Amino acid sequence: MPCPYTTRSNMRKKPEFDAKYKEHLRHKISDIKKKVGALIVAHNYQRDEIQEIADITGDSYALARKVTQAKEKIVVFCGVKFMAESAYMLSPDKTVLLPVEEAGCPLADMATVEKLREKKKEYPDAAVVSYVNSTASVKAESDICCTSSNAVQVINSLKEKQIIFVPDKNLGRYIAEHVPEKEVILWDGYCVVHMRLTKEEVLKTKELRPNAEFIAHPECREEVLELADYTGSTAGMIKYVNGSSSKEFIVGTEKGIIYRLKRDNPEKEFYVPTDQFICANMKLTTLGWLARSLEKMVYKIEVPEETAEKARKTLERMMEVTK
Ligand code: 13P
Ligand code: SF4
Repeated sequence: MPCPYTTRSNMRKKPEFDAKYKEHLRHKISDIKKKVGALIVAHNYQRDEIQEIADITGDSYALARKVTQAKEKIVVFCGVKFMAESAYMLSPDKTVLLPVEEAGCPLADMATVEKLREKKKEYPDAAVVSYVNSTASVKAESDICCTSSNAVQVINSLKEKQIIFVPDKNLGRYIAEHVPEKEVILWDGYCVVHMRLTKEEVLKTKELRPNAEFIAHPECREEVLELADYTGSTAGMIKYVNGSSSKEFIVGTEKGIIYRLKRDNPEKEFYVPTDQFICANMKLTTLGWLARSLEKMVYKIEVPEETAEKARKTLERMMEVTK
C-alpha cells in the first residue's frame, strides 16, 4: 500500500509536517537509503531537515567533486537541476536523482545556446567560461566551467585575454576586478535571489549590528559587495566564519546557509538583512519529496550523450585546473 503521506495530493494538502510525521519520514529515508545503497547530498541552501539528514553538504563545487569520488551507485541530489546534471555528467555510471523535478535555477535559464553562439561570433578570439549555474547545452558550447569558489583560478588558467563569461553578470564583474589583465565580457544574467538584496538593507542591518562582519556571495550587486568584509562561495563563507574571531555576522546569501554556520559555530550570531533571502527552488525539496524520490527512484537526471560529452569536458577541465 502506498504511504498515505507521500502521495502528491496529500503532500500538497499538508505542506507542514508535525514532529511525529517528520520522524516517520526520517526513518523511511534512512531505511530505503540503506536498502538501495544511496548517497544523499545537499547544497548549503537546502532546508535544515534536509541538510541534517544528508550524508554530505557543501557548495556546488564540493558536491560535484564528492559525487565523482563516491562509491555509491545511486546519488540523491538535494539541490537544483543544473547541479544534478553536472553530477550526472561527471559520473554517468551513477543514477542521479533530483527529488523535485521542477527545482530549477532561473539564473541558469538566462543563457541560451543561440544567444551564446551570437556572442561568440562577436568575439571570435574569446574563451567562453560558463558558471556552473548554467544548462548542460550552454556548458557544451563553452571552453571551461567554473563555480563561485574557483572562478578567478579558472580564468587565470586560460591563455586567452578576452573572456565571455555566462550567465551571471555580478560574478563576472567580481572576477574582472580580480583579474584586471583580462577583458571579461559580461552576460546580462543575474540571480533573482541575490539581486533582491539592496545596499540600504545592508547598511540598516550594519547600523543595528555594528559589531557584525558582513559576508556576501559574489552573485550580489556591486554596491552590496563593496560593503562586504568577505566575499566568496557558500563554502568560502563557512570557512571564513569558522576562522574568524568575530561573534556576529550579517549573511549576504540565501538563509539556508545559517543551518551550517550555526552548527559549526553555536556561540556566534547570524543575521539576514532581509527575510526575503530565500531561493524558492532550493526550498522545494522536503523530507516527503526526498522519501518519495528514494522510494520511486525519481527523478532520474540524464543529459543526451552528444551534449553531455561536450559539457563533461568543460567540467573536467575545471576539475583539472583546480586540483
Ligand atoms: P555556491 O557555488 O556558492 O554553492 O552557490 C551556488 C548558488 O546557486 C549560489 O546562488
Ligand atoms: Fe539559482 Fe540564485 Fe537559487 Fe542559486 S540562489 S540556485 S543562483 S536562483
